[in-house]
Amino acid sequence: MSTLELAGKHLVLGLSGGIACYKAAELCRALVKAGASVQVVMTEGATHFITPTTMQALSNRPVYVDPWEDRAAADGSNNMPHINLSREADAILIAPASADFMARLLHGRADDLLALLCLARPLARVPLIIAPAMNREMWQHPATQRNVAQLRADGAHVLDVGQGEQACGEVGDGRMLEPEDILADVVAFFQPQSMRGQRVLITAGPTYEAIDPVRGITNRSSGKMGFAIAQAAAEAGAEVTLVSGPVALKTPRHVQRVDVRSAREMLAAVQSHADQADYFVACAAVADWRVDGESERKIKKDGSGDTPALRFVENPDILATIAQSERAESGALYCVGFAAESHDLLKHAQEKRQRKGVPLLVGNIGPDTFGHDHNRLLLVDAQGSMELPEASKLTLARELVAEMARRRAA
Ligand SMILES: Cc1cc2nc3c(=O)[nH]c(=O)nc-3n(C[C@H](O)[C@H](O)[C@H](O)COP(=O)(O)O)c2cc1C
Repeated sequence: MSTLELAGKHLVLGLSGGIACYKAAELCRALVKAGASVQVVMTEGATHFITPTTMQALSNRPVYVDPWEDRAAADGSNNMPHINLSREADAILIAPASADFMARLLHGRADDLLALLCLARPLARVPLIIAPAMNREMWQHPATQRNVAQLRADGAHVLDVGQGEQACGEVGDGRMLEPEDILADVVAFFQPQSMRGQRVLITAGPTYEAIDPVRGITNRSSGKMGFAIAQAAAEAGAEVTLVSGPVALKTPRHVQRVDVRSAREMLAAVQSHADQADYFVACAAVADWRVDGESERKIKKDGSGDTPALRFVENPDILATIAQSERAESGALYCVGFAAESHDLLKHAQEKRQRKGVPLLVGNIGPDTFGHDHNRLLLVDAQGSMELPEASKLTLARELVAEMARRRAA
């Protein structure tokens, strides 16, 4: 994840008693590296798993455990850490949240400092994010599931649990999410929810058109821009399906990914999801042509010096096909195209928008974007054009998602 995603945010990181406290050390470090200031508060149980000394060193702040300690009084203030700590926070993150701690939260118990400050937090202003961590039987128990449901109903943001091998040796649901996934979910939590409940279908990456079983024609698209848009849309609350050509990228969190190879496979995948989508973003660099008649066997060099004659046929136009569908024409499906050009960006983007019949076309310069982490975008619609100046692809993707939501609402 790029740096300083949490700049200016102050978090209370609460640890309750569970084996996953060892992961809280890594999480604390990741939050600080992302720019957050972190105040650690631990239950007495948590101190059996990791020491306050470790957490203090990683957060650069003294750790709070005891509600009765008179540290706050020493500087002449009110000696009420449960009030002061909760008022300062942009969010309280409990990681790990033990089964017992969630049960106490649910009942509004306030029998230690961490539970007390969760209860004392201003509900409307200081959100509570919970990362549960426990044995699979404890997680599946109806009492825990009931508690999670009620905590959600009370407004807490309960994160998923991980699946796999547990510290106790059993295998199942209940592990705490990995620190990088919790960080991603916390970053997402602070993003504007401009696409809450919307379904977004995105294509990304290059396509690969086979010549024979070992060779093919592709292009230099890395998929980074499309993956960034998928991440930004998911952060904005959308349910995202990402149809990707062959790329070497990690799937963003909470994104459903469908891998394809050729343009025709990409079209088929897009068509099977477009009926449910509210937005379609065609970001993939789809090959315009494929080789006519892919050879079933490797084409061999025979020593004569003759070269194979390749003939091409045109590929289906995925964006135009979807843009001409009934749902797109009625406005139920908002279509966004991408154009990767080498020159005359505005002119080509305007022409492509008209040709494809889409409300929004995003232009970028191919050689400046393929493989890079930064980009510049030019948004072209019926009203005119708007530049999104150079920034990371994720920053641009978040701006684009906000623009799409705004335009659709208008
Ligand atoms: C070795 C050991 C490991 C434990 N691991 C977990 C755990 O992963 N998740 C959990 O919910 N409880 C776990 N417990 C139980 C809690 O530590 C216990 O319920 C405790 O009261 C929690 O206190 P707290 O919520 O105040 O931190 C474990 C207990 C022991 C002795």
